Amino acid sequence: MDAMTMPSVNPQLPPGPTTPTLVQTFQQLLSPLQYFPEQQRKYGDVFTLRFAGMPPLIVIADPKLTQALFTMNPKQFDSGEANRSFLESWVGQNSLLLLDGDRHSRQKRLLMPPFHGDRMRAYGETIQAIAQQVVAEIPLEQPFIAREMTQRISLQVILRTVFGLEEGDRFTELEQRLSSMVDSMTSSVWRTLAVFLKPLQQDLGAWSPWGKFLRQQRAIDDLIYAEIAERRGRDEDGMDVLSLMMAARDEDGEPMTDQELRDELMTLLIAGHETTATAIAWALYWAHRQPEVHQQLMAELGDWKAQGGALEGVLKLPYLDAVCAETLRIFPVTLFTFARMPKQPVELGGYRFEPGSMLLPSVYLTHRREDLYPQADQFRPERFLERQFSPFEYLPFGGSNRRCIGMAFAQYEMKLALATLLTEAQFELREAEPVTAVRRGVTMAPQGGISMVRCRSAA
Ligand code: HEM
Repeated sequence: MDAMTMPSVNPQLPPGPTTPTLVQTFQQLLSPLQYFPEQQRKYGDVFTLRFAGMPPLIVIADPKLTQALFTMNPKQFDSGEANRSFLESWVGQNSLLLLDGDRHSRQKRLLMPPFHGDRMRAYGETIQAIAQQVVAEIPLEQPFIAREMTQRISLQVILRTVFGLEEGDRFTELEQRLSSMVDSMTSSVWRTLAVFLKPLQQDLGAWSPWGKFLRQQRAIDDLIYAEIAERRGRDEDGMDVLSLMMAARDEDGEPMTDQELRDELMTLLIAGHETTATAIAWALYWAHRQPEVHQQLMAELGDWKAQGGALEGVLKLPYLDAVCAETLRIFPVTLFTFARMPKQPVELGGYRFEPGSMLLPSVYLTHRREDLYPQADQFRPERFLERQFSPFEYLPFGGSNRRCIGMAFAQYEMKLALATLLTEAQFELREAEPVTAVRRGVTMAPQGGISMVRCRSAA
């Protein structure tokens, strides 16, 4: 092909707003569900944004481009490096979230197996027992916040399956300290800003938000290191992820250090329980928002129960599957996948991107495309029964080499927890107006957490 027939490549970045970086940063952090769609309407399906302290962000809302990006050789991109600035203080420098290249793929191979297949399904009884116990503790006829209930479920699930902890003092203390640390950094806008903006990460004593966070984290680390030390002294191998990590050896025959184990445990905790708690809370909301959805779901769950209620059976219920899929479509837990940062120039969508730009597929904007999801702001599980979507059109768990390792596990937990909650108890929504999603740290969660009541059973 000579120069005359070569397709032209635009050396400029895609268009985008020219407002000052700091203004754009606050708009992205404070009103993302208004700001991102507005930019898409103005500039199209690929646009450039600025964010304080970051290289240019190239937002992608076109599944064809996401497909092109996710099917390129992943070695051409770094992602971990892009996560460093806002995740390192939570998960530590050895976290899978921050690794790139060979170290990332080796560590990912090590962590994947327990979250899939038979190993994953073996956790079913634990998930169901936790959901049963947590819902039994909700007082009848009194308002409660659904997200707090589902967070208790997902945190206990992780502590049992990943840490292998049984109920006891350390389990209870870790549970309390972890949820209070996460809540303290996500419960207000100011604190959420500190997660993203380095200058706000100042230890000004135990009462300052960041100082409190660091102290809470040290107390949690002490508990984690105590658990690791105790396990090193024990002989038997458990079914949990910590046991598996402790048994692993690298190519030189070396085991993971205590610091590496701690970083990976924090990673699975942070990445695994907030996200899943939000997903289950939303599913509970949607299951009660529209009577026809509730009716159809209860009919399917009734048949499942009548046939013995086998745990793995929840994976084969088509309407439950559609409700969970639609839940993660309409308000995905993360607005974006991780960024992909080119290590050498790459061409995509007629543009040439140099190292130092961040390519950012938008889960939210893709999921709200009218050409894929007509009446995209309506909750309609049937759309998942009527047609199939490609992994670039529907991507709540991201894709390519960075795809979420907890995907199958989270979907199983979501289905099993929802099926258990709906068949063990009766709820009513206490939300007169539609609930929208708001920022909660790096994720998006229902505003106010969704108020519900557990009703006395009609039977
Ligand atoms: C509904 C629940 C969840 C959602 C929506 C979710 C979503 C995501 C997304 C969007 C990514 C980035 C993928 C990409 O950039 O392509 C990710 C990565 C990740 N997730 Fe999840 N996740 C969930 C549950 C979990 C659970 C239960 C765990 C583990 C216990 C987990 C562990 C991870 C890890 C370790 C990564 C990093 C993967 C890598 O860097 O290669 N997630 N998740």
